[in-house]
Amino acid sequence: MDLRGRNFLTLKDFTPQEIVYLVDLAAEYKDKKKKGIPHDTLRGKNIALIFEKTSTRTRCSFEVAAHDLGMGTTYLDPSGSQIGKKESIADTARVLGRMFEGIEYRGFEQTIVEELAKYAGVPVWNGLTNEYHPTQMLADMLTVREHFGHLEGIKLTYMGDARYNMGNSLMIVCAKLGMHFTACTAKEYFPDAALVAQCEEYAKQSGATITLTEDVDAGTKGADVIYTDVWVSMGEPEEVWEERIKKLSPYKVTKAVMDNAGAQSIFLHCLPAFHDLKTKIGKEQGEKYHFTELEVTDEVFESKQSLVFDEAENRMHTIKAVIAATLGA
Ligand code: CP
Ligand code: NVA
Repeated sequence: MDLRGRNFLTLKDFTPQEIVYLVDLAAEYKDKKKKGIPHDTLRGKNIALIFEKTSTRTRCSFEVAAHDLGMGTTYLDPSGSQIGKKESIADTARVLGRMFEGIEYRGFEQTIVEELAKYAGVPVWNGLTNEYHPTQMLADMLTVREHFGHLEGIKLTYMGDARYNMGNSLMIVCAKLGMHFTACTAKEYFPDAALVAQCEEYAKQSGATITLTEDVDAGTKGADVIYTDVWVSMGEPEEVWEERIKKLSPYKVTKAVMDNAGAQSIFLHCLPAFHDLKTKIGKEQGEKYHFTELEVTDEVFESKQSLVFDEAENRMHTIKAVIAATLGA
């Protein structure tokens, strides 16, 4: 498997074999890290990390992974560069491509990261756009596989806003890898019909299935993985909160949902999560709309079925695999 020089923009661009290869490589790097085996084979190289939206996991994963691989990093924060304000994406790409061996981009439209990749001349990695979050998918697949021992045939139910980066990306990865994906949410939050059709094509090859349902009982029954994400994503306007809470409250992950899924089920969330009011935004919105927990109850979040911190750790190992594979470590 040779992924040298490839961009990592969406899993639509990768075959099932390539995706599994990256998960395998991440598992190898995880093992090396746990055993203290050095793997700094990219010494002397440097990568740029562009964040037009904030981050904890993705930024730290890229930085720690790069340092473990022996590389230098430069972080460009949402306000500290010329990008998009005084300098176009194409010009930025051509400048950074002269200095760095790879570029990570987190921000808004997918077209921006595509434009960056078009002009950079070095691999570009998508650290989250409005449409996709592909590095998160590798971490999720590693976590599911570590727990169940396999991916094919796993039933994954996604609850909440299924027409944004997380819902889209989970549907793609499940369809590619022969998993059973269900979006369990209000109709207006179903993934885009064109993307569903494209995933149906992948599913024909892999044996996956795709189900869209508004029925919580049917949608979560027997699910191996119950997955959710925040109801209001980064960059969305304040006005959407009220409608989201109204429409998505029936799709909150509760103990009843987990019990309906069954004792074998695990809970995943890309994080950050509103499972209590111990955050500034959670507290403000909670007071305004009278809630104490949003997309998942604290009880589920803190339960034994919740593997969210294994999942968060796996961001680093999987991002390391992406950097290593595309830069030829
Ligand atoms: N899951 C995820 O991407 O987390 P951050 O926003 O903290 O990077
Ligand atoms: N849907 C969320 C994912 C965060 C990792 C967002 O875009 O804010």
